[in-house]
Amino acid sequence: MENYVHVFDHPLIQHKLGIIREEHTGPKEFRELVNEIAKLMAYEITLDLPLADVSIQTPVAKTTVKRLSGKKLGIVPIMRAGLGMVDGILSLMPVAKVGHIGLYRDPETLEAVEYYAKLPEDAGERELIVVDPMLATGGSAAAAITAMKKRGAKHIKFLCLVAVREGIDRIHTEHPDVPIYTCAIDPGLNEKSYISPGFGDAGDRLFGTK
Ligand code: PRP
Ligand code: URA
Repeated sequence: MENYVHVFDHPLIQHKLGIIREEHTGPKEFRELVNEIAKLMAYEITLDLPLADVSIQTPVAKTTVKRLSGKKLGIVPIMRAGLGMVDGILSLMPVAKVGHIGLYRDPETLEAVEYYAKLPEDAGERELIVVDPMLATGGSAAAAITAMKKRGAKHIKFLCLVAVREGIDRIHTEHPDVPIYTCAIDPGLNEKSYISPGFGDAGDRLFGTK
């Protein structure tokens, strides 16, 4: 599955994305909707998780049921804004472990600067879902994935809410093994390298810092 990108066109996802794009949507509603979208995306990307048969006893009879049987899961938010997607995903998969990669985009050079990294000890054996609402130049996502691979991560998926071609191409070039899942591919970046139309600064909108 080299250079894979998937756009979610589910009506609920598109409706919620439309609301978070509006400039007057405040942090409370923004946070709720980001988590709801992340949960719906997680539901979609887990469609192919392997199951195994397990024998159990119901109050009435013995029977065979299904249990998840593949690799354990991990969620890795790129801070800050990726934190906004974690609870929604955890509500579907509460035993997933959560790693963190701290990066900010230097406003002058636009390069990602790493300030924190902590992954589950068994990162190499887990299916890791990296989350960040925005894939703009791709510098942050590419650096986060590099930082994760350096620490042993092997099976990585990248989830964002809005992407542009430039960011997708950068991940495809630097990490062709990492599939990208997004709710929209916007036309491009503005002069400050913000996604246009996008929804502005995701971290500031989630945490009310501007
Ligand atoms: C935002 C966003 C991504 C990055 C995307 O984070 O959450 O991590 O920018 O841009 P890029 O694709 O051009 O790297 P930001 O650097 O604003 O940090 P924050 O989440 O702490 O606000
Ligand atoms: N980071 C954001 O938060 N928003 C953008 O549009 C681009 C990078």
